[in-house]
Amino acid sequence: MAAIEVVLGDITRQDVDAVVTAANESLLGGGGVDGAIHRAAGPRLAAAGAEVGPCAPGEAVATPAFDLAPVRYVIHTVGPVWEDGDHDEARVLASCYQRALLLAEELGVRSVAFPAIATGTYGFPAELAAEVAATAVRSIPVELDLIRLVAFDERTRDLLTAALARSSTERPGS
Ligand code: APR
Repeated sequence: MAAIEVVLGDITRQDVDAVVTAANESLLGGGGVDGAIHRAAGPRLAAAGAEVGPCAPGEAVATPAFDLAPVRYVIHTVGPVWEDGDHDEARVLASCYQRALLLAEELGVRSVAFPAIATGTYGFPAELAAEVAATAVRSIPVELDLIRLVAFDERTRDLLTAALARSSTERPGS
């Protein structure tokens, strides 16, 4: 069972095997965390994204991480654009985490770092996003050593920490 931890920081500075980016469907790069990852990985990342994209919301695809070494892979996932909560947003967000984890396992990596997918440009409320993230990463047993949730601000770090603590005490069916 993978250890799950929350850290405050920049996802481009993590010593992990794979980082997840909160992409748009084109996989050509964008702003926010995706822009930071593309800048750190270099222009080959957008070229690789063009080859494997587009990617639908809730899905995940992998490319090499290029200049982001020692990170080996970038896992591109596309979050839901928040409308009102009645458009399957939580299910799509959970799927982002789950698909990315399954892909990480398939790639044979030991550690993966996630940003708070969809909580920036896509407008997903931070508190609900933290609940969904915590529940989703605990929902499937994967052969990894470490799942790191990287918060870019203190509020997100606190929400993720609290949501993980709650999800650790919940039992299926309770
Ligand atoms: N490290 C970690 N987290 C970061 C970093 C970083 N360097 N930069 C931003 N973040 C955080 C933001 O604070 C936010 O909590 O990532 C979270 C997700 O925000 P966005 O990057 O805006 O992602 P999202 O809401 O999923 O929107 C995706 O934004 O730029 C585009 O191409 C992307 O169109 C897509 C959309």
